[in-house]
Amino acid sequence: MSTQNSGNKDLADHYSFGGLRERIEHGLSTLSQPPTVASLGAVDEFHVGGRPATAHLVEQLALGPADRVLDIGSGLGGTGRYIASSTGAAVVGVDVTEEYVHVARWLTELVGLSALVKFVHAAAADLPAQEREFSAATMVHVGMNLSDKAAVFTDIAAQLAPGSAFGIYDLLVTGSERPNYPVPWASTPTTSFLETADDYVAHLVAAGFTVEVVTDRSEAALAGIAHQAAATSKGSSPLGLHLVMGPATPTKFGNLVAAIGSGVIAPTEIIARSGGN
Ligand SMILES: C[S@@+](CC[C@H](N)C(=O)[O-])C[C@H]1O[C@@H](n2cnc3c(N)ncnc32)[C@H](O)[C@@H]1O
Repeated sequence: MSTQNSGNKDLADHYSFGGLRERIEHGLSTLSQPPTVASLGAVDEFHVGGRPATAHLVEQLALGPADRVLDIGSGLGGTGRYIASSTGAAVVGVDVTEEYVHVARWLTELVGLSALVKFVHAAAADLPAQEREFSAATMVHVGMNLSDKAAVFTDIAAQLAPGSAFGIYDLLVTGSERPNYPVPWASTPTTSFLETADDYVAHLVAAGFTVEVVTDRSEAALAGIAHQAAATSKGSSPLGLHLVMGPATPTKFGNLVAAIGSGVIAPTEIIARSGGN
């Protein structure tokens, strides 16, 4: 397995500052209905565009109950629970942030999906060896933290049966300009490894994938992020990404919106397929 420099203290400090479960429990306690996969979407989809963006990606993977999906950098598990509940596929989420893994398991239990959706605490570069056990993989807003994407893509390829779909939805740079920090995935440039669509394609091809589609989702993303930012503003919603991103949420969103709006960053989907052997 390869090594990554993103599983370090800076990354842990950025993503995890304790009390996440308690904050979500408090939010849930103010709702009149028990939580569902749909209602959790306001807090458990930690990426631009939230649940609609996940649905757009998953739709292209043609998943069904026979599939086993590997979700890299699964966060609070929203993508995994959405996949399981909408397609019947089993999902294994892998994430390096221990607090997120605990919260992901708890939320999955709350909505009765624990038999279908599991979470493993591990770095993407240290995936437990489960050779060719999966028939699809997803990676949503994680590549920005991966310093060696080629190595991670090679590890993912080794977990996939030939012909499996790999759906990526990441924030890509369009050139040499970079956003101002903090942003939702990094407090400083130390844990941010932004690359272009051409870079991603080259890494995927080197790992044995065929790249089928690359889609710039900037327009949909800007509409989606406005909705997400509104849900985090004071008092507007008991569940929102402010519970996950903490006090710097408005600055992180502001820097991200500016970077997407100016074309420095393009939220992009990539659909690739694993090679024949
Ligand atoms: C912006 S969040 C996205 C979470 C989730 N995919 C989603 O869309 O809701 C990025 C996630 O990637 C995880 N991550 C970052 N580097 C990782 C690595 N090397 N291996 C596994 N997970 C990683 C973080 O812990 C975090 O949960």
